[in-house]
Amino acid sequence: MKFFIDTAEIDQIRELADTGMVDGVTTNPSLIAKSGRNFIEVIAEIAEIVPGPVSAEVTATDADAMIAEGRELAKIGDNIAVKVPLTWAGLKTCRVLSDEGRMVNVTLCFSANQALLAAKAGASFISPFIGRLDDIGLDGMELIADIREIYDNYDFETEILAASIRTVNHVQQCAQVGADVITAPPAIIKSLVKHPLTDKGLDAFLADWAKTGQTILKG
Ligand code: E4P
Repeated sequence: MKFFIDTAEIDQIRELADTGMVDGVTTNPSLIAKSGRNFIEVIAEIAEIVPGPVSAEVTATDADAMIAEGRELAKIGDNIAVKVPLTWAGLKTCRVLSDEGRMVNVTLCFSANQALLAAKAGASFISPFIGRLDDIGLDGMELIADIREIYDNYDFETEILAASIRTVNHVQQCAQVGADVITAPPAIIKSLVKHPLTDKGLDAFLADWAKTGQTILKG
């Protein structure tokens, strides 16, 4: 399973990229606004740091303007995935840009039928939003499982990019139901390594090691 980071904060991206765990980055207009940075500049910077797909979202709402914006964003680098909303205009844009050989991430997916449409439009990624479904009392994880079943039934190559991840349990459950990619805020990815027994065990090992007076490296 691939790990994408859901942020436009350069320092956080650099820090996590150094772990070797980051396969890509997703952004959206809200994350860009939160960063306070120029959209094109920040996407270009991210695309330099992370070689994997970097999602940059169009903001037009009609297909012709979306296509033009998508082509402009794709000029930033070969690793740009143009992000389009799950509307008819977005799907039309997805078909056009995918046929041109560009990566497209279809976002704001909240149903299996929407995911089916995105796959038929040639999307590289479909982004179902788990947390926002959970927020309204629905089961976001069930959607991931439904999409997995449908895509496998027809051998669709569109990757399931589970988005709106709010907890470490979401990450584990995504892996269990077969999401291809998760995108999560840096804090969630950092939390994945944590376990109190790991910390306790390490403290005990280091205390015992200190008693031996030995070192592994000479000098
Ligand atoms: C990613 O592509 C989405 O934009 C993001 O995961 C949305 O997360 P949120 O629902 O926590 O805003």
